[in-house]
Amino acid sequence: MLAPLLAARLPAAAGLPSSESGYYFLEGGLPPAGAGVPAAAPAALTTPAPFDVNAIRRDFPVLQETVHGRPLIWLDSAATTQKPQAVIDRLAYFYQHENSNIHRAAHALAAKATDAYEAAREKVRRFLSVPSVDEIVFVRGATEAINLVAQSWGRKNIAADDEIIITWLEHHANIVPWQQLCTETGARLRVVPVDDRGQLRLDAYESLLGPKTKLVAFSHVSNALGTITPARQIIEMARRYDARVLVDGAQAVSHLPTDVKALDCDWYVLSGHKLFAPTGIGVLFGKADVLEAMPPWQGGGNMIRDVTFEKTEYQPPPARFEAGTGSIADAVGLGAAIDYVERIGLENIGRYEQELLGHATRALARIPGLRLIGLAPERAAVLSFVLDGIRSEDVGAALDREGIAVRAGHHCAQPILRRFGLESTVRASLAFYNTFAEIDALAAALLRIRSGTPLVT
Ligand code: ALA
Repeated sequence: MLAPLLAARLPAAAGLPSSESGYYFLEGGLPPAGAGVPAAAPAALTTPAPFDVNAIRRDFPVLQETVHGRPLIWLDSAATTQKPQAVIDRLAYFYQHENSNIHRAAHALAAKATDAYEAAREKVRRFLSVPSVDEIVFVRGATEAINLVAQSWGRKNIAADDEIIITWLEHHANIVPWQQLCTETGARLRVVPVDDRGQLRLDAYESLLGPKTKLVAFSHVSNALGTITPARQIIEMARRYDARVLVDGAQAVSHLPTDVKALDCDWYVLSGHKLFAPTGIGVLFGKADVLEAMPPWQGGGNMIRDVTFEKTEYQPPPARFEAGTGSIADAVGLGAAIDYVERIGLENIGRYEQELLGHATRALARIPGLRLIGLAPERAAVLSFVLDGIRSEDVGAALDREGIAVRAGHHCAQPILRRFGLESTVRASLAFYNTFAEIDALAAALLRIRSGTPLVT
């Protein structure tokens, strides 16, 4: 049996995160840290709270680093986000004061670690607005979550001639597991195309749907282009054919408030490290009845109720899907990251990022020979582009010499780049800790690279 939840009451004196709300909002804003942090973003705010990006930046120690002698400009948050001190401190606190395996043993540290881990599960539940903690499975990341669904639900429910619909926007993690399942079962993969701005063509989606459609799996936000997909509409359309729906939220949850209950999808997946939390921890949300009907994926400890050599009885979800010792401290760190993000508020984050994205889009559009790829009107903080006559990898390397970290390559999403006739782009991906000055520095550096002018140091 679990001990009472302790994590929410950890002492401030223990060196735990103490970023007071007053730092973030010059007036108004959120209630103070600790107990009483609202479950949802502060919908009650009627006027935008001033957003103090400089105060936020002080919470991220790595942002004070220099690279090649220049201040680091981190524009690679779609690959991984930087971590606030609150998350770093929470991890250290866990290892200094609570470290133990969980759900087993008859000692105090096991109870503390279990409480911290289960408190994190409750934070995820609240963050995603889902009814029950039993619908939250901890996994390594979004990739593992999708593979779990493909191999557990998929093998049981997909047969020859069934159809699985994905989209051209998908990351390889939401292509390959379904392709493997189709190869194994004889099912068919169908793909929703995009238009020239990188928006899903819902007319084509409608024509792909039919009685053979068993599953629709799509990204809430594209990692390569930033397109925000009309998730609610896609799900509603799938429901007309009784198809199950999986939403890949890896690139969405740090930019948009996510209400999984309102979306009404069967599964929603995310990676902690793209949400200011450690690597190695992620989440699979599954509706209670859907998870309940899914067989285990991996066998081992934690997921069993009883084992004999003749047979094994399994735990109900979520334990059924958490075989072996998971990333306990990282789950706790994910809980701290969620607390941190909620204290700033995703409404505030989204508003600021949209201003930043608008500024960046205008600044980059003014650079001669620069082509922006994917200009959907509904877009999260990603700018994918190519510079005429200069390899994306060379642009990335030149930006790195100026301390600017971007990603250059195919971004694990080759089909969508090929849709635009490209094998690689430069991708600048933003988060709420980026500034307008950093965007101006990017634009100035690109102008220098374009004109072949060396950087004056
Ligand atoms: N999926 C990560 C990205 O988009 C690695 O960069």
